Amino acid sequence: MDTPGLYSLPKLAYDYDALAPIISEDLLKLHHDKHHAAYVNGANAILQKMDKARTDNADFDTKAVFKELSFHIGGHLLHSLLWRNLAPQGKGGGEKPSRTIAKVIDEEFGSFDRFKKVFSQTAVSAEGSGWAALTFCKKTNRPIIMQVEKHNTNVYPMFGILMVLDVWEHAYYLDYKNDRGKFVEAFWNIVNWAEVNKRIDDLLKT
Ligand SMILES: [Fe+2]
Repeated sequence: MDTPGLYSLPKLAYDYDALAPIISEDLLKLHHDKHHAAYVNGANAILQKMDKARTDNADFDTKAVFKELSFHIGGHLLHSLLWRNLAPQGKGGGEKPSRTIAKVIDEEFGSFDRFKKVFSQTAVSAEGSGWAALTFCKKTNRPIIMQVEKHNTNVYPMFGILMVLDVWEHAYYLDYKNDRGKFVEAFWNIVNWAEVNKRIDDLLKT
């Protein structure tokens, strides 16, 4: 087993300007380099604080610390999933789903258009800061949508996450102001369905 480590900010698989005009270069830079980085740093600071408390054999406020840790780790993991389930237009972004993911979406939602509508409504109606996520339940063989508040509330434990959309204001305000609906509509033009399909294939193999 490897020795205990820390979290690190993943590099994007595309340039900062590659998702424009859906997500501008300035917005992507700010979102990745500042907001996502803050969750990585926040989680690492807590882990290091707990390491120190262990060394000093000191107590800490478990309730507050684990709540904050869950917020930062949730933020880090969801953003890491988000960057990879996006792709530039013309390089896989916005193409229609195919193979396994297309089949399970059609079976559960009736059609891709209906799925898009339900997922979009989930994203638009998230109260305050949150996420819309497409998950998969292996017990029932159903893709199930999850509306996450903040980064860590309303999460279904053990369901693999296939696709996420960040609807915190920091994800769209610079480009779309308060029009979250317009951002959610534009999101479909840069969804990387090949990555989403890979996630469900990997999940079904486990
Ligand atoms: Fe975000």
